[in-house]
Amino acid sequence: MAAQAIKSAYDGASPAISPRKVLLQAVDLCHGYEARGEKVVALDNVNLTIHEGDFVTVVGPSGCGKSTLARIFAGLTMPSSGQALYDGKLIQGASKERGMVFQELAILPWRTVAGNIAHGLEIAGTPKAERARRVAELVSLIGLEGFEDKYPRELSGGMRQRVAVARTWATKPPVILMDEPFAAVDAITRITLQEELIRLTHATNRTVVFITHSVEEAVFLGDYVVAMTARPGRVLEIVPIPPMGSERTWEDMIKDPRIEAISAHVFELVRGRKAPTARNEGH
Ligand SMILES: Nc1ncnc2c1ncn2[C@@H]1O[C@H](COP(=O)(O)OP(=O)(O)OP(=O)(O)O)[C@@H](O)[C@H]1O
Ligand SMILES: [Mg+2]
Repeated sequence: MAAQAIKSAYDGASPAISPRKVLLQAVDLCHGYEARGEKVVALDNVNLTIHEGDFVTVVGPSGCGKSTLARIFAGLTMPSSGQALYDGKLIQGASKERGMVFQELAILPWRTVAGNIAHGLEIAGTPKAERARRVAELVSLIGLEGFEDKYPRELSGGMRQRVAVARTWATKPPVILMDEPFAAVDAITRITLQEELIRLTHATNRTVVFITHSVEEAVFLGDYVVAMTARPGRVLEIVPIPPMGSERTWEDMIKDPRIEAISAHVFELVRGRKAPTARNEGH
């Protein structure tokens, strides 16, 4: 039953057959760190192809190299070997084309909600009227109307996270890299944020790479899930998720037996208890 459900989920859903433009690529990517004489292989021969409009989730245990991968795609870390490409070109530094929401909350405490969201637009020299319009649009999308003039200290953790997401979204980078953006919020707020994120992504047509250590979150959000393993950090399998629509909710997901089977499969992969499905290796 479980194997059948996974098989039918693969049929017609493989990212490999997508005709869309390739936006991000990792080619034989390796990265090692050296700290106090000890070497750590954070990423070992990672290959990944991400198409325009994809919502990709990357899941794996702590220390498997998820943040390293996000930082390499952002251009903040140069890989030890291999290549990271954006639109066919080598990534050699940070760029406004690839926005990042960091694992540690990154909003400016001395700026209001509106001021935080407007920050990148100010740097980009966006005219004031256009800036105000875009900030209002995003405030509405993240459900923070009435909180525009509040400071981060006056907000809940979930609200702050929403501001961090909107801040990155504001400048419309084609690619948004999100490193465990909801890790620090409670389970109920997290579900709301995930549902909002799906709607925001569909409404703005972005390409998203979303890092998480939660299998449920990865399966709920992703068009496909990149399952990783630790020491050394490797991609075990790319698991396609059957389309559930932009209005999907957690209730929809929990009721869907295909999703249950896929979640169980991914869970076993990242726990190191199951060999990858052969047809998806080395995507
Ligand atoms: N600056 C650094 N110096 C030395 N080692 C590092 C550094 N950054 C990461 N590492 C090591 O590289 C490996 C991968 O780290 P990374 O932060 O990419 O993992 P992660 O999957 O994001 O983990 P988590 O889920 O805990 O955030 C870990 O073993 C970590 O100890
Ligand atoms: Mg991390």
